[in-house]
Formats: sequence, structure tokens, C-alpha cells
Amino acid sequence: MRLLRLGLGCAAIGLLLAGCNTDMWVQQKSHPLDKSDFFPDGQASRPLLQGTIARGHLRADAVFFTGIDNGKWVDKIPTEVNMDLLKRGQERFDIYCTPCHGRLGDGEGMIAKRGFKLKRPVGNIHTDRLRKMPVGHFYDVITNGYGAMYSYASRIEPKDRWAIVAYIRALQLSQNVKATDLTSEQQAKLNEKPQAESHEGGAH
Ligand code: HEC
Repeated sequence: MRLLRLGLGCAAIGLLLAGCNTDMWVQQKSHPLDKSDFFPDGQASRPLLQGTIARGHLRADAVFFTGIDNGKWVDKIPTEVNMDLLKRGQERFDIYCTPCHGRLGDGEGMIAKRGFKLKRPVGNIHTDRLRKMPVGHFYDVITNGYGAMYSYASRIEPKDRWAIVAYIRALQLSQNVKATDLTSEQQAKLNEKPQAESHEGGAH
């Protein structure tokens, strides 16, 4: 008798658990972009409310996201410039910009050399005009494109755009610095004779 009761009890619990199985994967559902007759307008999801912003996409800091303040390109990079940012900028520049602009930014990239024929040449960042250009201009070029150059906004996040701008400034400095601006140790290095090539390690 006891055994029977236990057996019945187990069966009841089993049935109860089976009833709890909601099987959500077999319910009716609609893909948000599919047609549906659930709503009168035939769409499966509701339009976003005006002003809806995806998480992490609030662009309240206009200077950071446009490079423009009061209608003018900003002169100062609106984020902390440190070695990490420069290294990131170098990496991003080498990926996205060097094919046309070259590693130095002089416009001698492979695509330019191999016949990217345009009425105007690929930009060279070492001209006087671009050396004097406020940083906001470079941010703007990456964001919105410039003449024949298309926008990189979909591929490069705003923070990375500023990293590239910082690196452009470093490149500009690297090609236009007076020897007297260097520290005495750096100047001494400049005057060092190049070391004779080592022929160690086998015959030529
Ligand atoms: C597919 C080739 C190509 C790539 C890649 C490219 N550019 Fe350009 N860029 C151009 C061309 C072409 C011009 C000249 C456009 C013109 O004058 O109409 C130009 C011009 C420029 C200028 C000069 C703007 C001025 O005021 O004269 C800057 C700065 C610049 N690019 C930055 C960048 C940066 C930064 C990247 C990487 C994020 C990049 N470019 C990637 C083709 C390219």
C-alpha cells in the first residue's frame, strides 16, 4: 500500500513537472523585420519612439563627437593624449589610412602608387596648410570624408578617430622638427656615425 502511494505520488509530481514545461521555443513568434498580421500596419515590431537612443550611443558631448565647437574646428584633442592613445592611433592609422596615405601620411600609399587616379592627389599631411590645421579638421575628415575621400565613420569609433588625429600630429612633428628642438642626447645620437654593418653569421 505504501509503495503504491509512493508510486502515485511520483507520477503526480512527474505530470506536474511536465505541465510546467512551457516550451517557449515552439510558441508563435515574429522576426522584428518580418511581415506580420499582429499589428494593423503589417509590421512585426513597433517603430522606435522619437528620440530613442541605443544604450551607449548618447552623444551629448558635441565637441567630442564632431570636433566642432561654436561652428569652429577645435584646436585641442578633447580626450587625454597619452602613449596608449598614440599607440592605438598608430595601429588604426596603419590599418585604415596607410593604403592611400602611406605610413608617413605623405600620400604615397600603395593604392596611390598603383594608379588610384584622381583629379587631385591623395592628401599629404605634411603641407604647411595641414600642419596649421586645427585637430578638429582631421577628426571631421575621418568622420565625414573629404572630396574624393569617403567617410570612415562606420568603421572607426569616435575615440579611435581622436587617437588617429593624435598620431597624425606625431607624424607631422616627426617630419618637421628642428635638430635644436631635440634634447642634447638625441642631438648627439644624430651625429653618431652609422655603425659598420656586421658580417657575423656566415659568408655572403
Ligand atoms: C582609399 C584611399 C584613402 C584612404 C584609405 C584614406 N584617404 Fe584620406 N584622402 C584620400 C584622398 C583621395 C584625399 C584627397 C581628397 C580630395 O582632395 O578630394 C584624401 C585627403 C585626406 C586629408 C587631407 C584633407 C585636406 O584638408 O586636404 C586628410 C587629413 C586625410 N585624407 C586623412 C585620412 C585619414 C586619417 C585616413 C584613415 C582614417 C584616410 N585619410 C584614409 C584618400 C584616402
